[in-house]
Amino acid sequence: MAIVYLNGEFLPLEDARISVLDRGFIFGDGVYEVLPVYRRQIFRLNEHLNRLDNSLTSIHMLNPLTLEQWRVVLMTLVERCPEDNQSMCKPLIKCDYSNGIRAVTCEDIRWKWCHIKAITLLPSVLLRYEAAEKDATEAILLKDDFVTEGAASNVFIVQQGVVKTPPKDDNILPGITRDLVIELLIGTGIPCREIKISRKELVSADEIWITSSTWEIVPVIELDGKTIGNGRPGKMWGKAMDIYQEFKKNMTVSN
Ligand SMILES: Cc1ncc(COP(=O)(O)O)c(C=O)c1O
Repeated sequence: MAIVYLNGEFLPLEDARISVLDRGFIFGDGVYEVLPVYRRQIFRLNEHLNRLDNSLTSIHMLNPLTLEQWRVVLMTLVERCPEDNQSMCKPLIKCDYSNGIRAVTCEDIRWKWCHIKAITLLPSVLLRYEAAEKDATEAILLKDDFVTEGAASNVFIVQQGVVKTPPKDDNILPGITRDLVIELLIGTGIPCREIKISRKELVSADEIWITSSTWEIVPVIELDGKTIGNGRPGKMWGKAMDIYQEFKKNMTVSN
């Protein structure tokens, strides 16, 4: 049975209710986080809580709990869930994208403050529909002919042995996975740059990856119907995945 924390109470999911007049429900006036849990260890807890705090500040909402109180609530939820691997108090369901996915490019039709992890996701949902209609799994978004991010992911490319991802600004969500991938690559001596990526560079990249907490690192093997690289997940992606999985194996809540 899934247990959730709502307004100071731990409740079975089916008993958790919000008012139909709730501002988040009516206006989409809210922010959120999704924290994966592996082997009962919360993945990048401090980073997620810091991003939540930044999102709350951006929407003029007081954080109701201190970081330590959040930690206690989240650890309690993890303990009460029967599964070892979890997401949103439920078993973590992972799709196998290790053979790569198809993606399409779309105009970034979202608003100007994409660094806030807002619950108002209609543009992203519509972009994912657009991708699905073209038989693709993700939409890679472009603003003024430069890559911003995916509809629900960050974007990386590999160009002649160098990994590149757009810099953090208001156009992208500062992805927890993105930051970790950069940290791990640099720590292993693989060149990685936070730099603007043009449409031309995207379509001619040797490899394209997208990252998110639940998807981890996913290779894109086809973009707008054209093959990327040799049409199979690239060598650099394989290296990045090995490093990432090694990190997950050794992680504790404190790292
Ligand atoms: C728009 C957007 N960008 C990037 C990400 C990836 O962020 P993270 O790695 O923290 O899951 C997400 C995740 O949901 C997202 O919705």
